Amino acid sequence: MGGARVKVAILGASGRMGQALLDALRLSDDLELCGALVGPANGRIGQDAGAALDWSSGVKYSAGLADVLSPAEVAIDVTLPAVTSDIIEACRSSGCPLVIGTSGLSAGQRAALADAANSIAVLPAANFSIAMTLMTGMVREAAARLGPGWQVDILETHHQHKIDRPSGTALALAEAIAGARGKTPAETRECIATDGERKDPDSIVIQSVRSGEVAGEHAVTFAEGSETLELVHRAGSRAAFARGALLAAAWLATQDPGLYRMDQVLPDKRR
Ligand SMILES: NC(=O)c1ccc[n+]([C@@H]2O[C@H](COP(=O)([O-])OP(=O)(O)OC[C@H]3O[C@@H](n4cnc5c(N)ncnc54)[C@H](OP(=O)(O)O)[C@@H]3O)[C@@H](O)[C@H]2O)c1
Repeated sequence: MGGARVKVAILGASGRMGQALLDALRLSDDLELCGALVGPANGRIGQDAGAALDWSSGVKYSAGLADVLSPAEVAIDVTLPAVTSDIIEACRSSGCPLVIGTSGLSAGQRAALADAANSIAVLPAANFSIAMTLMTGMVREAAARLGPGWQVDILETHHQHKIDRPSGTALALAEAIAGARGKTPAETRECIATDGERKDPDSIVIQSVRSGEVAGEHAVTFAEGSETLELVHRAGSRAAFARGALLAAAWLATQDPGLYRMDQVLPDKRR
């Protein structure tokens, strides 16, 4: 073990993603758990946050957002959009950098994040996976270099409990493709077809499957005539997201206020 570890608060600690983060934190040399936020009706409030993992973390589940944030040097939010506005405001008040993985945010919440970035470091990421971060760049390059004649389809598959559809990752991939084709984010939304119908050549068709306990799969297909190019990412478990989220948190804790992207966290981009 090296020097002092960065204190991190997990917001949404009792959830599927929160538990994966706690599991990864147990073994981290860079970060230490200092707060674990859950919903106000959670029956485990007051219990050790590591209990379900057979880990004595020394941190108790709490529903007090300000208390959870007060010792934190960085927070990772994996709650639900209904809580996001309060979290943005609380992080801004306490000066706590925020890594936010919650998906399904409204346009207003995204604007609030950009505004908060004037006073704290903020990193929103639809997908924390390192390999998916890389794939998004590859998809952007493919769209730019193949040009507009290629039809694009995105197929995303997630577990049956996922609330939002299409996934935030599918939307981010569509944004990368449309951006490479010169579209603004607002124009991107108009290109997205979720009913399976390709209305014009620029349409990006997104299909969503909700099935079993799939952690997250995304396939992007570019097709032209008899040729297809397919880029696929499969997360076999949430450990892939947790690993990237912890990397992002350790990195963001040392950044000045601003709005950052997951690809800036990748090692070759830090130089
Ligand atoms: N960026 C990524 O790589 C990535 C990967 C996976 C998932 N996600 C996103 O992360 C989010 C969580 O996913 P999940 O599958 O873990 O969901 P989940 O299992 O439903 O967990 C939701 C968490 O939010 C908490 N919560 C709900 N209402 C709250 C409130 N009013 N105050 C404080 N906490 C509250 C829940 O606490 P209670 O248990 O007390 O209700 C729970 O801990 C989703 O938006 C999902 O899309 C992102």
